[in-house]
This record gives sequence, C-alpha cells and structure tokens, in this order.
Amino acid sequence: AIPLLADLAAPLPGRGALPPRAHLHSDAPRQLLDGTWQVRLHPSPRHAVDDGWQQPDARLDPADWSPVTVPGHLPLQGHGSPIYANVDYPFPVDPPFPPDDNPVADHRLELVAAPEVLAHPTVLRFEGVDGAATVWLNGVELGTLRGSRLTTELPCAGVLRPGTNVLAVRLAQWSAHSYLEDQDMWWMPGIFRSVTLLARPQGGVRDVFVHAGYDHRDGSGTLRVEVELEEGADAPATISVPALDLHGVAAGVEHRLPSVAPWTAETPVLYDAQVATATETVHLRIGFRTVTVEDATLLLNGTPLLFRGVNRHEHDPHRGRVVDLATARAELLLMKQHHVNAVRTSHYPPRAEFLDLADELGFYVILENDLETHGFERVGWRGNPSDDPQWLPAYHDRMRRTVERDKNHPSILLWSLGNEAGTGANLDAIAQWTRDRDPDRLVHYEGDWRSRHVDVYSRMYASVPEVEAIATEPPAETFTDPDEQHRRRLPFMLCEYAHAMGNGPGGLSEYQDLFHRYPRLAGGFIWEWVEHALAGGTTDDGRPVQLYGGDFGERVHDGSFVVDGVVHADKTPGPALADLARVFAPVSLDLAPDLSTLTVVNRYHSLDLSHLEAVWTSDGDGSGAGTPIPLPEVPAGGSAVVPLHLPPSALATTVTVLLRRRAAGDGCPAGHEVAWTQHVPARPVAALENDPVAPRRIGGGLVELGPAAFDERTGMPVRLGELALHDVAVSLWRAPTENDRGVASEEPDLPPVADRWAAARLDDLRTRLVEVGEDGPALVVRTRTGPPVLDAGVDVTWRWTSDGTALALDLTVEPYGSWPCDWGRVGVDLRLAEPTTRVSWTGWGPGPQYPDTGQAARYGSFVADRDDYAVRTVRPQEHGARRVDEATVELDTRALRVRGAGLPLTVRPWSRAVVAATRHDHELPAATETWISVDAAVSGVGTASCGPGVLPGYRLAPSPQRLHVLLQQVDRLR
Ligand code: GAL
Repeated sequence: AIPLLADLAAPLPGRGALPPRAHLHSDAPRQLLDGTWQVRLHPSPRHAVDDGWQQPDARLDPADWSPVTVPGHLPLQGHGSPIYANVDYPFPVDPPFPPDDNPVADHRLELVAAPEVLAHPTVLRFEGVDGAATVWLNGVELGTLRGSRLTTELPCAGVLRPGTNVLAVRLAQWSAHSYLEDQDMWWMPGIFRSVTLLARPQGGVRDVFVHAGYDHRDGSGTLRVEVELEEGADAPATISVPALDLHGVAAGVEHRLPSVAPWTAETPVLYDAQVATATETVHLRIGFRTVTVEDATLLLNGTPLLFRGVNRHEHDPHRGRVVDLATARAELLLMKQHHVNAVRTSHYPPRAEFLDLADELGFYVILENDLETHGFERVGWRGNPSDDPQWLPAYHDRMRRTVERDKNHPSILLWSLGNEAGTGANLDAIAQWTRDRDPDRLVHYEGDWRSRHVDVYSRMYASVPEVEAIATEPPAETFTDPDEQHRRRLPFMLCEYAHAMGNGPGGLSEYQDLFHRYPRLAGGFIWEWVEHALAGGTTDDGRPVQLYGGDFGERVHDGSFVVDGVVHADKTPGPALADLARVFAPVSLDLAPDLSTLTVVNRYHSLDLSHLEAVWTSDGDGSGAGTPIPLPEVPAGGSAVVPLHLPPSALATTVTVLLRRRAAGDGCPAGHEVAWTQHVPARPVAALENDPVAPRRIGGGLVELGPAAFDERTGMPVRLGELALHDVAVSLWRAPTENDRGVASEEPDLPPVADRWAAARLDDLRTRLVEVGEDGPALVVRTRTGPPVLDAGVDVTWRWTSDGTALALDLTVEPYGSWPCDWGRVGVDLRLAEPTTRVSWTGWGPGPQYPDTGQAARYGSFVADRDDYAVRTVRPQEHGARRVDEATVELDTRALRVRGAGLPLTVRPWSRAVVAATRHDHELPAATETWISVDAAVSGVGTASCGPGVLPGYRLAPSPQRLHVLLQQVDRLR
C-alpha cells in the first residue's frame, strides 16, 4: 500500500494520460463501459490489499465484492456516506497529505471489446471520477486519474485484447487533489460519469480547434479550423460546411465568409460542419460570434451584453452529480422559459454534452475550471496551493483539460480559472496560459479583486450600493496604480448574487435596475439554480424526505447551506423562479397612470419584438385572450411609447398588459408570456354592509358582538360563528427564514436578525389586558404587549365592530420604550382547531410576496391547496404570505373569510414556534389545526444567508401600525 500512499500525497497531475483534446463527435467506433461493475471497499490505503485483484486470473472471494452502477457515486449506493461541507475541509489542513481515514474502493469490470473498436489503437476515456484513481487493464497499469470533474484519456493499445479483459480502478476518496476540490457541495466519491473505449483510427482526427468570428460591421464571418491528426496520416484533413458552401477546404487557414448569421443566445444559429481524413470524420456545429470589451463594456458581436444568469451545479437528488442529458435539457428549457440567458458552470466543467445543449438552445456560458481551495481561508490562506510552485503543474493540467475539452463551443464566452482559490502565481500563470491558448475568449476569476490577470471585474454578493459605486467609478485615467487602471477598464459582473436560500432572494429588482442603467454592468448569475438536497426516501405517511448537511452523521458540515436554489433538487420550481422571470424579462413595460400609453423597452441583445404580440385584458389576472395592442417596430435596445386607446371605464378595472410569443420557439410554447404589467385601481375599503349591532354581555364572562363572542377576562374573541378562535394575539415575530439567520454583509459585526429577535424575546411576547370598554357600537380592548426582561413593547387598541354578519377589527399598534431590534412583522395571529384544506383569494398571487420579493405576483383571483399556500421548504421557515383583499380559508367543515386591503395573510397548520424548531419539512407534525396571521406590515427578506441583508427601505423598524380587517365565518366553498 505504500506506493499508493505516496501517490495520493503527490500534488502532481495524474500519470499516463494523453494530452487533452476536444470532446469530439466522431464516426470512429466506441464502446460504452457504463453499467454494473463490481466493487469492494477498504477503510484506508493502508488497509488496501494487494492480492492481485487487478489481474484477469485473480482469485477473488465473491463475498468481498458487490455490484455498483457506473456512472454513480459510491455513498449513494450504500458504500460510505455523503459529506456536505462548504468552506471547511473535513480533514486536517496538512497539504499535500490526505488523511489516513480515506475510503478506498476497488472497482472491477470484465469486458469483451467490440471487434470494430479492437480493429484500431484504443483509448480508455474517463469523463469524471470523483476521487483519485489508479487504472489497470489486464493487470497493466495504464495511469492515474486526478481532477474529479475532468476528462482523462489513457492509451491502451497493445493491452486491450480479444476475449475477456479486466479493467480495474482503485479509487481513494482523498488525495492531495482534494485540497484543490473544495467546492461547496457534497463530497461523494465514485465513477460518476461515463467510461468509454474509443477507437483512434490511424491518421484520424485527434483534435480540432474552431475559431469562428463575426464582424458586426459588415455581417461577415471568419473561420479557421486547426486540426491535429493522429499518427499515420498521409493527407491533411479537410473541412466542409455545406451551408456556407465550403466543401473540403483546408484546415489551418482563415476563410473569410462574406455573410454569416451570427450566434447569440437569442439566435443560436449553428452551422453543421465536418472535419474529415481518410479514416475518420468528426461532426461539429459552428457558431460565429465575437466577444470583446470596449469602454469597460462587455460586447457580443459589437452590442452590449447583459448576463441574466444562474450558477448551475450538476445535481440530482437520487444520483448526485450524475445528471442525464434529458434532465439537463429540461433544466435548460426551464431556464429559457424564465428568461435565463447565461449559465456559470459552478464550479467545474459539467458533462461534455451540456455544452452541445447550450450551443443549440442558446446560452452564454462561463465555463469554470475544477478548482477551489477555499478551506485555506480558515488558516489565513497559509499554504494555499494557488501560490505554491509545487502545485503549478496540477493547476496547469486542470486548466488545460478544461479549455481543451470544450474549446469548440460558441456558447462559452469566458473561461473561469476556478472558484475561491485565493490569489497566487499559479492562478496568474494559468490565466496567461488560457489567454495565449484561446485569445478569442475572455478570462474570468473572482477571487483576486485586483483583477490583474482577468478580462472582467467579477465579484460575488456585492451589495446594491457597492455595485452602483463600481458602475460609477471615476475614469481609469484618474487612478495612479496601473493595476487599478486596468481594473477600471474592465466590465463588471456579479458571478454570484441573490443567494436563493429558503424564503428569498429579496431585492432582485434593485440589482436589475442597476444593470439596466449602467453600461459597465454586464449583469450577474444568481446563486444558485438547483438545491442540492439528497433524497432520503419517504416518511410513513408518504412525505418525501430531503436531506442536507449533518443528516449523514458528518461531524464537519454546513447544514442546510447546500439547499439554496431557485429550483428544488427534483427541478420543480420554487417561488423565486417566477420572480426571477419577471425581473429578467427581456422587455420592460410601463403603463401611464391614466392608461393613455404603454412604454415598451426592448432589452433583447439582438431580437426585435416581432415574435411577440401585445394584448390587454381587464378585470382578471390576464389569463384571458385579451384585446390586441398594435406594437410598432422596436429594435433590440430600442424603446417606444405606444398609444393605448382603452375605454375610459378601464381605469376603474384591473388592466393587465401582456407580451406573449406568437409562435412556439426558444424553448417556449406559443402564447408563452414574456413580459407583463398591470394597473390595479384603488379598491373600496372593505366595510361592514349593514347597521352596526351593539356588544352585549351574555353571561359566563362572555361579551357577544354580532357573530362573535369575546372573553371578558382576556378581551380576546373566542368564537366567530361556529368557529372556535384560539390564541388570538398581536405578534411581531416570524419564524426565522434562512436569510434572517445569516449575518448581513453590510453589518458584519452584528448578529443575524433572528438572533436579535431571540435576544429581544420577540417570540415570547406577554400581554396584559388594560381595559375592555365600549365606544358606541364598538367593543374596545386595550392591551399592552411586550417581551419579558425588557421595558419596551407595544400598546395595542383593538376596536371591534359588527353588523351582525361580519366582525371588523381596527387595530392600532404603538411602540413604547426603546426597542433593541427591528420587527419581523406586525399583525394578529389566531388558531383554529381544524386543518385548512385550501385557500382561495383575490389579491396578489399566485406566489407569495414580501416587500422585496414577489415580483411575479399580480392582481387576480387564486386558489392554492394547503401546502402550496404555506410554501414548504426543505428546512421549515416563514413563507407563503400573500397580499389579499379577500380570502377564504377553507377548513374541513367550515371556512373563515378575511377581507382587507392587500393584507399579508399567512396560513399554515403549525405555529411559528413549531416551524422555527423543526429542522426538516418531513418532521413537521401532521396537520390538525390552522394558524392564521393577518399583518399590518412585514419585513423584507434580503439575502443575508450569504450577502447583504434587507435593504433599508424594506426593513420594519418599530413604528406605529394600523390594521383594518373583516372576519367572517362562512360555509365551505364547493
Ligand atoms: C460562494 C461560493 C459558492 C457557494 C455560495 C454560498 O462563496 O462560491 O460555491 O458556497 O457562496 O452558497
């Protein structure tokens, strides 16, 4: 085992690989080796037995071996368990040494090579092996694999033979390279991408590098295809692009093409091409585009480019980073439907075919190297491989393999050196290598804010004020430091922002407004696309179990921080996705207050609006057919003020203006909504309809007011019609969201909002009844409510009236004393002893809305079942408030009607205390009751789980508040 130990501790690239090359679609024979392999495990390299198991004639004890599926992760197939850690290394920082406690898995596959593969020299290709592996074929060591998300090709000519062959892979979870693979995700060893035997015909096409540029001034293209041949070629390769009338032209020379259609994410025009020799033909799809920087602005084909991006990890709740192509395509289509135009492949190259999809469907890609050393931050970056020369070959090897594999994809506009790897000479060196190798693309790296070696100034989680300050920095000439001058000449982008964890992200619109206002801003990439929860089966009552860090007994872990995406692990959208679509909409619409005009701003990069139709509808949520609005021609980047000619009566109605696709396309069906805006007229204040009735004492300490009864001892209502009301109280707290639990980047020295609430005991308010009195027909109750320990609180006046049918509450809340914290919300809670089944409402929907979220919510009438209304998240937290004018909360037998003007209404089967104390959704108790909150105000949610907190305008400082609401027990609908 000693050679293996030494090998695993070497900070060097793997041995035995062929030089990296493009992932080509070739007609040469190939044989996929995916399927069922055999595996046995050892607890560490020191325990790994050298019993000749790699040999074809090895005598193995079947009891030691069990089947495993390739591609797959071992811990998801019963061998070991996943570990989730963000920054921390789950082992001592002792580079380049891995820990002894290091699971080793011997993999074995017996295979018979197909004759057509055997007829040529062969290569064994591994596209992704998580961990560090040594590979043998028929007992002969072919080489070692390093770089978990990178392709390795090992030559096996002369070793592969007719009849049965034995492929053996010894895979250790930890190695020196683990220090380079500290991405915020699950540590899960395994052969998780395909393994293939490739025939490499003599004189075949070894590698291709397409350079296809577009000149926006005259619409011409340039094409140069560099080709490298396998040994034994007797003639050079030829290139054919039939649609461009290129037939059998020479490689290596530049062809000028007077007229080509440019590739953009909006117009992903690809030209089919062949590169051929006598023995092999490879198929390529070429896109012509040119990416440049001018005046600190990012340009594509000469036009400013705005990334409406997401960070995408490969994740499947059952299979981990094994993501099949159909799923990847579905993910990209879902992005298209929500106006996402860019993907950063955080934080490693995805499976190779993902780039084919990005080319075809149209996405701008930042392709990131498989490199992160974030854990060194914990030790003050001491020993960071990024600045230690012994690691340079490994850095170089990783970057090369990243660039070479994917260099022919028009979708890739930037190469990213890696993520969160600190600073250092090795990064500078690979930046330089990348620029030399591929001068046609830009270089990205966020971790070095001096930006000396990159082409874009990139940051993560910068706040709105900071982004604006960067957008308006003084000109480059005013800086004396040449590095600063260089940085000032770069466009700015947020490679991560808007941390979409739990309820959130709040504040998307504010960023987008800046992106639209300042040309230096090239947009950004939401963190992140998909949540990485792992499936854990179902509960006894059939609820899916979703697991996160710590659920596998890990001692070093980061809990639910791995669950922070706009789509859930199973790729179903969370509410943030709809909000994102509204904010990312490529067309902005603005209705004049008198509805005389519609201002249309075309924010596409290159499309005009002819593929869209505009309609308006009245008094509905815009789902009807609508009346057409003739649109003038609005070129990309242009705008128009369109006269509307609506009937004067429209002003008093809800008017929704929609832009929809005329025909299916761009991953969307015909009629797909691209942009909308709405005029919502002032609505009458909900008021009692009949003459007021007077309160009267009915004995038993009760006061009756219309349909309601009040307990004189508490002053609180205990019955409404046939509904018993429980726990009616004023409340200032919400069940902390994950954003409430984070330290806001602009307040690094303050504890999280949730901790401030806890310190102030906002969740434990006590109420003293001051008086119960009458004022004409009103029952007037005064209470004083505040937390223990403190001398601050709120004085509350409850003014109840009724017309015999409904009960009206006019509540005023006056803070007193000196409050140590902002509030989560201000409103009234009550509990009903039956579970809700569903909620229907008129107001904003269908999704939830907090002051800084809910951009997708529009006025209309909606119905949601209990779970959809509550918005269940992997880790329970406050969510689901809708702003309602009127809502019916349906119970098993009856219903409660709530009326008010756009009041935040929360309905769920659990108290906030239960929600806050429960770690997983599936641990929430079964629904037996209903907790309802009607609020006067709620706080925004921000993104402090990683980044800025709630913007000042959306915070809820202690302040006087009023609430007017009508409550009524009604029959259940249906
Ligand atoms: C960034 C990092 C991501 C992820 C995110 C928080 O610092 O690049 O990988 O950890 O924060 O979810």
